[in-house]
Amino acid sequence: MIYADNAATTRISDRAFEQMLPFLREQYGNASSQYSHGVKAKRAVEQARKKVAAAIGAEPSEITFTSGGSEANSWVLRSVAEAYRNEPIHIITTAIEHHSVLNACRALEQSGIEVTFLPVDNVGLVSVDDVKKAIKPHTKLASIMLANNEIGTIQPITEIGRLLKSEGVLFHTDAVQAVGHIPVNVNDLQVDFLTASAHKFNGAKGTGILYKRAGIKLLPLLFGGEQECGLRAGTENVAAIVAAGYALEESVAEMAETAKRLRIMIEATVDIIKEKIPLVRVNGDAECSLPGIINLGFGGVSGESLMHLLDLKGVCVSTSSACNSGKDEPSHVLLALGLTEQQAKSAIRISYGRHNTINEVDTIVSAVCDVYAKIMKRRNF
Ligand SMILES: Cc1ncc(COP(=O)(O)O)c(C=O)c1O
Repeated sequence: MIYADNAATTRISDRAFEQMLPFLREQYGNASSQYSHGVKAKRAVEQARKKVAAAIGAEPSEITFTSGGSEANSWVLRSVAEAYRNEPIHIITTAIEHHSVLNACRALEQSGIEVTFLPVDNVGLVSVDDVKKAIKPHTKLASIMLANNEIGTIQPITEIGRLLKSEGVLFHTDAVQAVGHIPVNVNDLQVDFLTASAHKFNGAKGTGILYKRAGIKLLPLLFGGEQECGLRAGTENVAAIVAAGYALEESVAEMAETAKRLRIMIEATVDIIKEKIPLVRVNGDAECSLPGIINLGFGGVSGESLMHLLDLKGVCVSTSSACNSGKDEPSHVLLALGLTEQQAKSAIRISYGRHNTINEVDTIVSAVCDVYAKIMKRRNF
C-alpha cells in the first residue's frame, strides 16, 4: 500500500511510539496520583507540554491538551459565545473552515449569534480587507484557519492578527494542518487561541492542543477534577500526550528538510500528471501552500471513482476532508473557490507526509493516469 492521505492522518513516528509505550505498560500511573508512579506520569505530561509550547513559541502554561482538533475548535467558539452571552455577539469566520469550526459557528447562529462567513478568492485566500470590512462594534471573535486541509492554501494570518489586535477582536486560528509542517509562532501570528492535532504531525490519534494566550478568558469545557488547570477535567491520556510532545519536537527539527522534499514530490506529481492528462487543474494556491498537499481536478471525471480505483491499486488518496468523505456532496471548500458542482466532484487530494519517499511518486502518478484512462475508455464505449 502507498499511503498519500497524510492530511487525513499520519503514521505515528517510531520515536513517538517508543516513547509512549512505557506509559501504557510499566508507568501507567494516573497523573493526578500523589505517589511516585503518578508523579512520573504527571512529569511526562508536563514535559510534553513544554515541548509543544516550545514548538509554537508559547509558554507551557498556555497549552491545554484536548481529545483532538475538533474539540479544541468547538471549545474556543462556544466558550467565547458563552462568556459574552448577555451582550450582542458577532463572530467572523470563513467559508472554507473545517467542519469543526463551520458547524460550531452554524450551531451558534441557530442560538441567535451573528456570524459572518467570509468568502475566499479562486485560490482560497481570504482578503485582509474583507476581514476589516466585516468587523462590527460587537465583533468578539474571528476564527480563520492557518492552512486549509483540502487545498493547502496558507492564509495571511500575521496581517489578519495585527488587524484584529488593533481592533480589539479576539483571534482564533485552526492550525491543525500547519503545526509540525510549516513554522508556526503564536506571537508572530498575534493569535489569542490556536488549535492543533497530534495525529496530523505523526503523533497518536485522539490528542489535540489548545493554545490560549495568558490573560485571555476561557471557560471550562469539562467539570470534575483539576486536570488541565481545571479547564478540562478527566484523567489525562498520558501516553498519547507524551507521543504528541515527541512527535512535534521531531517534526519541527526535521521541518525544513521534510518540506523541501515534499515540495519536490508535489511538483513532480503535478508535472507528470499534467503532461499525461493536460486538462488537469490545480485547485488552490501553488505559491502559498502547505508543502505536502495538492488538490487536482480531473475535468468531468468523478473524484470518488478515481479514489476507489486507486484504492484497488493500493494507493490511498482522498476526495475531500476525511470528516466529509462518504457524503455525496461537493466539497464546500472547492465550491467556495468558485468551482462548479461537477468540477468540485472531480477532485482528488494527494497529501504526502514524512514517511513518503520520492520513489513512491512514480507509482502514484502512473496509478492515477491508469485509472483515469480506464474511466475515459469506459465512457467512450
Ligand atoms: C483543518 C482541520 N481542523 C480540524 C481538524 C479536526 O482535527 P481532529 O481530527 O483532531 O479532531 C482537522 C482534521 O481533519 C483539520 O484538517
